[in-house]
Amino acid sequence: MKNYYSNNYWLIFVYFVLFCGNFKKLDSYEVNCSNVLIGQYSCASPDIDPETQQPRGCSKENKALVNCTTSENIKCKPGTGLDNRNFTIEIPCEYTNGYSFETALLLSIFLGMFGVDRFYLGYPAIGLLKLCTLGFMFLGQLVDIILIALQVVRPADGSYYVINYFGPRLTFLQMNNDTYVVPQEPEAEL
Ligand SMILES: *[C@@H]1O[C@H](CO)[C@@H](O)[C@H](O)[C@H]1NC(C)=O
Ligand SMILES: *[C@@H]1O[C@H](CO)[C@@H](O)[C@H](O)[C@H]1NC(C)=O
Ligand SMILES: *[C@@H]1O[C@H](CO)[C@@H](O)[C@H](O)[C@H]1NC(C)=O
Ligand SMILES: *[C@@H]1O[C@H](CO)[C@@H](O)[C@H](O)[C@H]1NC(C)=O
Repeated sequence: MKNYYSNNYWLIFVYFVLFCGNFKKLDSYEVNCSNVLIGQYSCASPDIDPETQQPRGCSKENKALVNCTTSENIKCKPGTGLDNRNFTIEIPCEYTNGYSFETALLLSIFLGMFGVDRFYLGYPAIGLLKLCTLGFMFLGQLVDIILIALQVVRPADGSYYVINYFGPRLTFLQMNNDTYVVPQEPEAEL
């Protein structure tokens, strides 16, 4: 019995000697850095601008660039990255234009009957209408408070409110082609 085990160790040693030299060292591998796959790179966390509470350089198209580096032994194909390992990718962000959520909500609560919130957000016609009718007899004021609190009414220029990065920001979740749908068991027939 003892002999049997030592034979096995001997075999393992032989395999080790025979095959160990055959593991080829992985050479560096080139990928198209404008089209990298998950796992081939890591990115720096975005630089949050304290003024807008959004990634620095967030464009009107709601896109910002972050710096990324490929994993070890992976290189960018020439011309697809900034240099042979660094490149940038676009991340979604919310373009802001200085309209503060807190200011808008406070104006709506305290001065909404004079339409000040609507003037602030850039809707002068509705603002004037609210001013002349005392916020549609306070009913329109209430509606606007709710709409602004829900962030349904946003600044007229299409920008987003300035809200603290971890503040009460409303995020719409949508399904797209990347959404994983948990397969459902077919319903049992009764
Ligand atoms: C890299 O990918 C982009 C977008 O998919 C493509 O337009 C470009 O031609 C590719 N470049 C190379 C060198 O393959
Ligand atoms: C990305 O890298 C460039 C150059 O190193 C630097 O100037 C820039 O601030 C970086 N951007 C971010 C978002 O970190
Ligand atoms: C990538 O960028 C970082 C800093 O932005 C720099 O330290 C590093 O050397 C760059 N990597 C390469 C391979 O150029
Ligand atoms: C999702 O996939 C379908 C079919 O594969 C395609 O027609 C559609 O454009 C895709 N939608 C998005 C948002 O990529």
